[in-house]
Amino acid sequence: MSATNLHPSLAKRMASAKPSPTAAVSDEARRLRAEGHKIINLGEGELDFDTPESIRAAGIAAINGGDTKYTAVAGTASLKKAVAEKFKRENGLSYSPAELIVSCGAKQIIYNAFQATVEEGDEVIVPAPYWVSYPDMVALAGGKPVIVSCGHEDGFKLTPAALEEAITPATKWLILNSPSNPTGALYSKEELAGLAEVLCRHPQILVLSDDIYEHIVYEGSFISFATAAPDLLGRTLTVNGVSKCFSMTGWRVGYAGGPDWLIRALEILQSQSTSNASSISQAAAEVALNGDTAFLGEWTNLLRERRDIVLDAISRTNGLLTAEAPSSAFYVYASCAGAIGLHTADGVQINSDVDMAKYLLTAAGSAVIPGVAFGLSPFLRIAYAINTDELRTACEAMVTACRALQKDAA
Ligand SMILES: Cc1ncc(COP(=O)(O)O)c(C=O)c1O
Repeated sequence: MSATNLHPSLAKRMASAKPSPTAAVSDEARRLRAEGHKIINLGEGELDFDTPESIRAAGIAAINGGDTKYTAVAGTASLKKAVAEKFKRENGLSYSPAELIVSCGAKQIIYNAFQATVEEGDEVIVPAPYWVSYPDMVALAGGKPVIVSCGHEDGFKLTPAALEEAITPATKWLILNSPSNPTGALYSKEELAGLAEVLCRHPQILVLSDDIYEHIVYEGSFISFATAAPDLLGRTLTVNGVSKCFSMTGWRVGYAGGPDWLIRALEILQSQSTSNASSISQAAAEVALNGDTAFLGEWTNLLRERRDIVLDAISRTNGLLTAEAPSSAFYVYASCAGAIGLHTADGVQINSDVDMAKYLLTAAGSAVIPGVAFGLSPFLRIAYAINTDELRTACEAMVTACRALQKDAA
């Protein structure tokens, strides 16, 4: 949708909500499936594991125990207590109940944070590659996403110099996402402290620290922005949730800690839209946060093995795809620069990451997301949280398809 083809009955703000740039690949995947082709989906941002048994049981117990009514908008007192304890225990961050909110996924918190604070023309710094929703959420709030390219040479991370350069008097927020979707990049304490040093000179800037992949780390260790920069705690919204690390995407529970004035505003917005996160999901999330997380070690080992399957396949594409091992999350963001300009056996030239994603879909039956969706091309995001055998099949097919590309048109 764009301003030019907006239905006259729709509000102008709908022009800010673009359909996902991944739609072309998804449409093609659907078409091929309908024709009976087997397509392996490496595009999903969720784990293939079941939600752990104790968490599922808590959900069932909540239903059977009559825990099926509205709750307080910002979350049940017992879940907020579990969230406060989690922040203290794992991140060294202290929040009072008035500084905490539970919502229908981290997504609702981020959306509402911009709705609550961004005025027409305010700028929000979005390091690219970024999670696809950030720029649209900013635009829907009337703000201007300021995209700062963070290339492969910087490990896909924002540097203090690039941050300083992007800041203007209109800058309202900086978004940080570590571990990152789509690159798996993980910021160190020193890197976050370097960014904080710049932010200290610009007191008007708020920081959104999206920590949703916190527990999926292979090398190095996770540190939340406010932990690395305690002086900026008062202007940081620390966003997290149970979707990614507890395999609970469908339960829709996210939570955040931040200054009370902001949390209160999020609560007011939420009270006029969804009210509270599902009472059943909140009961389950409480067990997730309070419970034993030993399963995470097992999950991480399996995910590391899958990551290495993808990296091994990439290393056998004769340089058409390249990537370094990401330290966290469950994505490889592979450059496909080596494939640009080559031709398929049918004589079609690969001119972009969208072309390459379409080619891998038709020639290898593997659905990956082109980097243009995340604001940095030419790359492909390969999500590897799928069944290991299927992943191997998809990877082998991608290697074969890459090797079949030719310099000259047939
Ligand atoms: C970086 C990032 N933040 C937030 C979310 C949203 O998570 P939730 O399921 O809690 O809304 C996602 C989901 O893909 C994500 O990748």
